[in-house]
Amino acid sequence: MKVTIVGAGNVGSTCAEVIATQSIASEVVLLDIKEGFAEGKALDMMQTQTTIGFGTKIIGTTGDYSKTSDSDVVVITSGIPRKPGMTREELIGINAGIVKTVSENILKHSPNTIIVVVSNPMDTMTYLALKSTGLPKNRVIGMGGALDSSRFKTYLSQALDRPANDIHGMVIGGHGDTTMIPLTRLATYNGLPISDLISEEELEKVSASTMVGGATLTKLLGTSAWYAPGASVAFLVKSILNDEKRIIPCSVFLDGEYNQDDICIGVPCIIGKNGCEKIINLKLNDQEMVKFADSASAVRKMNLAL
Ligand code: NAI
Ligand code: 2OP
Repeated sequence: MKVTIVGAGNVGSTCAEVIATQSIASEVVLLDIKEGFAEGKALDMMQTQTTIGFGTKIIGTTGDYSKTSDSDVVVITSGIPRKPGMTREELIGINAGIVKTVSENILKHSPNTIIVVVSNPMDTMTYLALKSTGLPKNRVIGMGGALDSSRFKTYLSQALDRPANDIHGMVIGGHGDTTMIPLTRLATYNGLPISDLISEEELEKVSASTMVGGATLTKLLGTSAWYAPGASVAFLVKSILNDEKRIIPCSVFLDGEYNQDDICIGVPCIIGKNGCEKIINLKLNDQEMVKFADSASAVRKMNLAL
């Protein structure tokens, strides 16, 4: 199994490292435009092979797409990240040009690949990648909900003081500070509704922390986060390559689901070897449906800037 990661920056290289150290793929190609950068990252990671103990081959290239040929999955992280005070939406102009060109180059060498879009504003970039490539909708997946859900579960486990691995919860909607929707009503601790275990006020706090999860890190780090984003991409890639059929919230094209059309936005998906194999239609209550419609309006407004 071969994975290409375009953009060997913070998120791309972390993703490559997780994929290699967990032996999720046999080959990872890192591609960047910065001269020597991807080669350097790949070589450095390869020199951890004997100490960490993994067999994945990692190759780096400066812009040579022929090295990416026949990739099963391609992850697009190329673009500029957020700086403190910037929203994901402000990245649109620069990143749109990059995502469009990269998607076209990728398909010349891997016509059957599944594309995972990470570059922000991710829902809009996913929509752009889908429209510009003309690929079937199951093969273009935006990663954002997996990350937002991991932040949600972390904050829930801290509020409950219980192990994070026993917590289940999902964030749907747009991957934006004001557009994401942490589904507090459906979150569980080993099957027990968390809404029965902590107060409404505490749940509101968890929800608010989740929504500004990315901005909090950007403020602390001076650029956007990479450990949880890189690991979340690897988690998604693993479900595709191993045909795990996990339910992961991803930004995918909606064609009537959740009363929305012609938009890519976060909804729970079954992720397997064919990419997004099924969209799960959750029974949202009226309040959640209103939030989803508002989120979709905001994402749609951003798509107009393309
Ligand atoms: P970074 O700046 O560390 O890495 C980006 C890399 O892309 C750089 O090495 C740059 O040289 C490369 N690049 C730029 N144009 C390119 C092109 N045309 N072809 C190949 N490579 C190119 O940025 P970082 O932190 O890795 O973030 C990458 C993107 O991912 C940003 O847009 C960021 O906002 C987004 N992001 C999205 C998340 C999500 O959940 N969807 C989470 C975290 C970041
Ligand atoms: C994040 O959520 C900025 O999308 C990036 O960390």
